[in-house]
Amino acid sequence: MSRTIIEPFRIKSIEPIRWTTREEREDLLRAAHYNLFLLSAEDVLIDLLTDSGTGAMSTRQWSAMMNGDESYAGSKSFDRFRASVEAIFGYRQVIPTHQGRAAERILFSLIAKKGDRVPNNTHFDTTRANIEFVGAEAIDLPIAEGREPRLKHPFKGNMDVCALERLIDRVGAEHVPLVMLTVTNNSGGGQPVSMENIRQVSQVSRQHKIPLYFDACRFAENAYFIKLREPGFQSKTPKEIAQEMFSYADGCTMSAKKDGMANIGGFLCTNDDHLAQREKDLLILSEGYPTYGGLAGRDLEAIAVGIEEALEEDYLHYRIASTAYLGNHIADQGVPIVEPPGGHAIYLDARGFLPHIPSSEFPGVALAGALYLEGGIRSVEIGTLMFGPAAQMDLVRLAVPRRVYTQSHIDYVVEVILQVWAKREQIRGLRLSYEAPFLRHFTARLESVS
Ligand code: F0G
Repeated sequence: MSRTIIEPFRIKSIEPIRWTTREEREDLLRAAHYNLFLLSAEDVLIDLLTDSGTGAMSTRQWSAMMNGDESYAGSKSFDRFRASVEAIFGYRQVIPTHQGRAAERILFSLIAKKGDRVPNNTHFDTTRANIEFVGAEAIDLPIAEGREPRLKHPFKGNMDVCALERLIDRVGAEHVPLVMLTVTNNSGGGQPVSMENIRQVSQVSRQHKIPLYFDACRFAENAYFIKLREPGFQSKTPKEIAQEMFSYADGCTMSAKKDGMANIGGFLCTNDDHLAQREKDLLILSEGYPTYGGLAGRDLEAIAVGIEEALEEDYLHYRIASTAYLGNHIADQGVPIVEPPGGHAIYLDARGFLPHIPSSEFPGVALAGALYLEGGIRSVEIGTLMFGPAAQMDLVRLAVPRRVYTQSHIDYVVEVILQVWAKREQIRGLRLSYEAPFLRHFTARLESVS
């Protein structure tokens, strides 16, 4: 008999969460202009806005933090951090940054310029913004299956390799400074990329002498999906799989706020010593000296331990199972989600959920608002508000923080979603009353159309 998959930890320190009434939430939502980023976190009961920096650290991480060496230069914590990153990622140069987007900014400001194209399976919003900021074009090349929310495919995060070859032929390799693969594919539904696809993308990139980089935020979850789903990897450890993934690329950007199991931090890796020197020069300008890069020594310690813990099999087993539990329980009742469930999040298909609300009236934002009103749950729209009218899908992401919520919290989330599903026809669309010139979803204000 198979037994319940339990949280592979016990709770030593608790953080109370606060109930609000529906009337209070109605006022709070209106005051936040229907944008959940503008809520106070204490007015949220279950916060699924992001899995970034919101994880719970382990006793091992907290004790490592006490060993933080806060020396400005040559800190021992940096040595431990570098050794831990090197052992998994395998790149020669490891440059700490305060979070993932700082690594992106440094990388793209050195290697990309106006007229360049940067392909990815799907760019995350900060990656796209950093590429566009230097005048280059960010191009998404997911496989066709990746654009169909309801379609099941084991590796929906894969890149369309033929489309990559066509792009390189069309614009010329000299205008493609970098090929990127995001593991797992966050904006495409938290879906994994297969080892076979990584090998093929690597081969095409190498043929054209274009470096391949990973956006490695959720590398451990991707490695575990390969173990579960790709023939030939069942008996390998997640760490061995991660090492093989990274071996096909020339570097990576990383937000340690995800599979780094830390509350802040990131890094930039490369095998190119010359480029690394220029990156470190730029790092000093804005982030800090190369042995701390905008982080405290204790943060480096937390990451050094965190990337190892993210690869523990007990943890990954529970992690992937609990996300799938949420997804399967609502999908079984007819709620349209991106199938199959992703690693760090479940994505509701807002166009399928609210067919009466056109994309121009932000169905994802309307649905996120309804989940908050119903049960104090905070989620995030990934759709027309985030990407503009060109958005391929209108999704609502329920991102699950690492090691934070228990199964009863997840059961509660399932109940609230099903209650909203039952009265979905009452939900109304929204219109914008304020938008910023870029990354508008963080600060946008909206109002009800009715
Ligand atoms: N790449 C991906 C795939 C991400 O998901 C994120 C962040 C970043 C890069 C940037 O990293 O936040 O450390 O600067 N994603 C968070 C999210 C914000 O909610 O998905 P960062």
